[in-house]
Order: sequence, then structure tokens, then C-alpha cells
Amino acid sequence: MSINTINIRDMKRRRKPIVAITAYDHTFAQLADRAGAHMLLIGDSLGMVIQGHETTLPVTLDEMIYHSRIVARAAQNAMVVADMPFMSFQLSSDQAMSSAGRLMKEALVDAVKLEGGQQIAPAVRRLTQAGIPVVGHIGLTPQSVHQLGGYKVQGKTLGAARRLIADGEALDEAGAFAIVLETIPAQLARVITERVSAATIGIGAGSDCDGQIQVMHDVLGLLSELNPRHAKKYVDLVQIIGNALTKYRNEVSDRNFPGPEHSVSLNSEYEDALVEEFGSATPIGNWHK
Ligand code: KIV
Repeated sequence: MSINTINIRDMKRRRKPIVAITAYDHTFAQLADRAGAHMLLIGDSLGMVIQGHETTLPVTLDEMIYHSRIVARAAQNAMVVADMPFMSFQLSSDQAMSSAGRLMKEALVDAVKLEGGQQIAPAVRRLTQAGIPVVGHIGLTPQSVHQLGGYKVQGKTLGAARRLIADGEALDEAGAFAIVLETIPAQLARVITERVSAATIGIGAGSDCDGQIQVMHDVLGLLSELNPRHAKKYVDLVQIIGNALTKYRNEVSDRNFPGPEHSVSLNSEYEDALVEEFGSATPIGNWHK
């Protein structure tokens, strides 16, 4: 039985940190699930991390369903949450219902995540009343990057902090069981965490949130260009994978790969018959020498 909304709320009550991480495919989802992550998010960050776009805006609902289905199939224990991409819920609560319904039915995820505060509370209420668990997302909301003027820290003035607190409370009241707090001051995240019953999941929001989320590719050091301040690189896979691929290229170029252990040989009777009928071909691989 995988982790559910009751477990997440319970973890908040018991002050047990919630470990969340993004996943976009089966291999990495399985690794994170086996490592004990409580929540796997198919983030629309896949637009940047997987598809190479500059923002998350081009990601479509069909693409989210495709990746979410793959991740959901891999998760044995973790709760699987799918991001609702840009323009899949902003038009109306009806549109939000239809898009979230597709993610639940076609991708078999456990919950959906929507960016936005008070303005999307009615949609969150509709979803939760229909039995669809919702994660909110406030602070730096990447789908609004053009309006925010870039990927900048949010909630830096008292006015902005008041708005974010009101956003958190509105989502909480509408029934969200968790809220992502992205790139806001740690003290503000602490206030929101105390004031809502939903579990807060921070990214660049300090250590007092109920849980933390990171982008898988940041944690694994898989992105050489991007290096956000809030991310910690636990391993440098760009280096490790780069070295392995260079070695592979060199071995193929030098004809050292494949070796006999990676190849299939004929028995001598078959080989003799082949040579008799077609003549012998000159071996050029290094291991023949
Ligand atoms: O899209 C995403 O990966 C996210 C996380 C960074 C929270 O929204």
C-alpha cells in the first residue's frame, strides 16, 4: 500500500520530515522509490530538464500524462503526484476538473499539483470535493516566470509575505493536503507552515517546512549548466557519465569493444562449413590478435 494523504498529514503532525523528489521516467522513479522517498513528483520541470525548453510553459497535458503513467508504474511505496501544466487549469474550475480527471484516470497518479494561490482556490475546492487530492504550489511559481520577471526569490516585502500567507491559508481551506513553498525566505516558510494544516514541502524555503522537494537532476548532478542556490548536488553524474561515455567511445574507436565475452561464436563444425562456402573473412577486432 503506497503512502497516502492521511500519512502525509500525519507526518506533519508527528514532525517527521517528508522526503519528496521529482521523477520523470521509470528508471529514476524506481531508484527514488527504493531509496525511500515518500513522494514522487512528475514536475512540469520536465520541460526544462528533459525536453530542453527554457521554461515549463510549453509542456502539454498529454506529455504530463505520458511521463506520469511511466512513473506511477514504478512506484511501490511513494505517493505519486503529477503537475498540472500551464493552461490545463487556469481557464476555469471545469477545465481543472477535466485535466485532473485525465491525470488520475489515464496516468493513475495519486494526486495533482497546481501552481497558484487564492485565485485557484475555487478549482482546488472542486477537485478535492470530487475526491482528487491536491498539492498547492506558491512562492516562485515557474509557470508565471514572465510575470514574475525571472526565477527570483518571492515574499521579500511585508506586503508580499502577507499575500503568500493568505494564499497558503486559502489553499489549505480549499482542501489541499500539501503545499509546495518555492524560493521564499525561511522565516516566511516557517510562518506559513505553522498556520496551515496542509503539509508544507519546501524548495529553497529553509529547513522548517514539513518536508523538502528537490529536482532529481539537481541532486544527481546531471545538469552541467543549471546550478540553483537551493539545490545540493549529492553526486556529480555529469562527470561520471561523461567519463564512462568517453571510455565507451574510445574502446569502440580502438576496436577494444566488444570483446569475446560480449560476442557469440560459432562451434567449429559450423565455422568450417561457413568458411568452406563463403571463404574466410579477415578479423579486424583487437581481441582476435
Ligand atoms: O516542476 C517541478 O519540478 C516542481 C518542483 C520544483 C516543486 O514544481
